[in-house]
Amino acid sequence: MAENLPIQTTWTPAGWRQRPAAQLPDYHDQAALVEVEERLAHSLPLVFAGEIRTLRQYLAEVAAGRAFLLQGGDCAESFTNHSEQAITDTFRVLLQMAVVLTFAAACPVVKVGRMAGQFAKPRSAATETRNRVTLPSYRGDIVNDLDFTAEARQPDPRRQLRAYAQSAATLNLLRALAQGGFADLHRVQQWNLDFLRASPQGARYQDVSNRISETLAFMRACGLDAVTEPQVRQVSFYTSHEALLLGYEQALTRRDPQTGEWYDGSAHFLWIGERTRQLDGAHVEFMRGIANPIGLKLGPTADPDTLLRLLDALNPDNQPGRLTLISRMGADRIATALPPLIRAVQREGRAVVWSCDPMHGNTQEAGTGYKTRPFDRILDEVRRFFLIHRAEGSIPGGMHVELTGQDVTECLGGAQAITEQGLADRYHTQCDPRLNASQSLELAFLLAETLKDYRRE
Ligand code: PEP
Ligand code: CO
Repeated sequence: MAENLPIQTTWTPAGWRQRPAAQLPDYHDQAALVEVEERLAHSLPLVFAGEIRTLRQYLAEVAAGRAFLLQGGDCAESFTNHSEQAITDTFRVLLQMAVVLTFAAACPVVKVGRMAGQFAKPRSAATETRNRVTLPSYRGDIVNDLDFTAEARQPDPRRQLRAYAQSAATLNLLRALAQGGFADLHRVQQWNLDFLRASPQGARYQDVSNRISETLAFMRACGLDAVTEPQVRQVSFYTSHEALLLGYEQALTRRDPQTGEWYDGSAHFLWIGERTRQLDGAHVEFMRGIANPIGLKLGPTADPDTLLRLLDALNPDNQPGRLTLISRMGADRIATALPPLIRAVQREGRAVVWSCDPMHGNTQEAGTGYKTRPFDRILDEVRRFFLIHRAEGSIPGGMHVELTGQDVTECLGGAQAITEQGLADRYHTQCDPRLNASQSLELAFLLAETLKDYRRE
C-alpha cells in the first residue's frame, strides 16, 4: 500500500482549508463567519483531553472484543425541540439498552450519544424543489433553518454560536444525569418509560431490571461493598457527532499542553460521513490530525484499496481504539459489500472497531411521502452484520443507531406495528427517521441474544 499515499505534511488545524471540501455551506456573509469562528476559538472546549483519552482506551477494549460500543441519538438535533424531557428520555433509552446488553450478554458497554453537537447534516442534493420553487437544502440547525423559505434556508454563521451554547447545555444535563444519581443501577427499574410499561418490550425490560435489583440486594445482604462503588452509582457517557462543519470543529480544537496532541473539544468522538471521506479531501485532512477517537462511515461503494489508504492516513500508527469503521450498507447489500472490506483489514493486520449502522442503508420513501425505514430491514442488517463477522473471524464491536426516547412513529413495524398510514401520527424528526423507545429496546434484546451466542463461542 506504499504508492499513492497522501503526502503527510505537517498538520495544522487550518490545513484542511487548502483541500477540496464537500458538503460545506456557501456562506454569503464571510465577515460574520470570520467573527463567529473567532469567538468560538476563544470559547471553552466542551470536553477535555483526559476524558477523550479514556474513551480511546475503552474503544481499544472494544477492538479487542472485550466490550461493546453502543452509539445512538438523533439524526439531527434541533434548536426548537430542545428540552430536558427529550434529552432525559433519549439518555434513559440508551441506559436501558446498555443494561440489557451488559446483563443479558455479560458484556461491558461503552455508551456514546449522538448528542450535544449533532447539528450538521450532509445532503444528497444541494437544493430542494417544491411546487417549482428551488431553495438550498436544509443542512442542519447549525447551518440554516428547516422552513421552506428563501430566508430560512440562507446559511447563517451566527447559528454556530447557538449550536455551541445548546451543546454546552445538553452536555451539562447529560453529565448531571450520568453522575448525579439518575443512572445509579439501584434505580434500574425506574428507567422504564411510562408509555412502554404495558408493551411486550417494557415487560421484558421489567424482568431484566427485577433480576438486577435482586442481584444488588443479594450482594448487599452478603456484605459486598461493590454495590456502593462508583461503577454502580454512575455511568461513563460520551458525546459524538459528524465532523462536517470544519470551521466549527477547527475553532474548538486545542493543543493539550500535557501531551502536545491536538484535541477537538466539540465532542469526545467524531466521525467522517459517507459523503465526505475523499482521501484528498478537507475532512480526512482535518480528522487525521486530531487525537480524538474517530469514526469512518462506509457505504456499499467503499472499496478495499481506498479503505486501506484511508487507514494509512487516519491511523498510521495502527493504534487500537483510534478508529471505528461504521458500515452502513443496507440489508440487501451488506453480504456482498462488507466481507471484502473486513478481509482487507484482517490481511493488513489493522486494529479497528467494526460497528454497524443499520439505519442509513435502509431508508426509503413511504407511499404517503414520508422518509422511513422498515424495522425488519434494520434488524436484518444487524443479524447479517454478526453472521458476516462470525464467518470472517472478526469482531462485531458496536452498533450505531438513530433513536429517540420519544414515542414517535418514524420507522415502520416493530412491536407497535407502525404502518405507512401510522407514520403521520407522530413524525417529528428534523432529518432521518429514528427508532422509537420500543423499537430501540427490541433491537437491544436482539443484540443481547446475538452477542451472548457470539461470546459463548
Ligand atoms: C448520519 O449518520 O446521519 C449520516 C448522514 O450518515 P452517512 O454519512 O452514513 O450517510
Ligand atoms: Co441520519
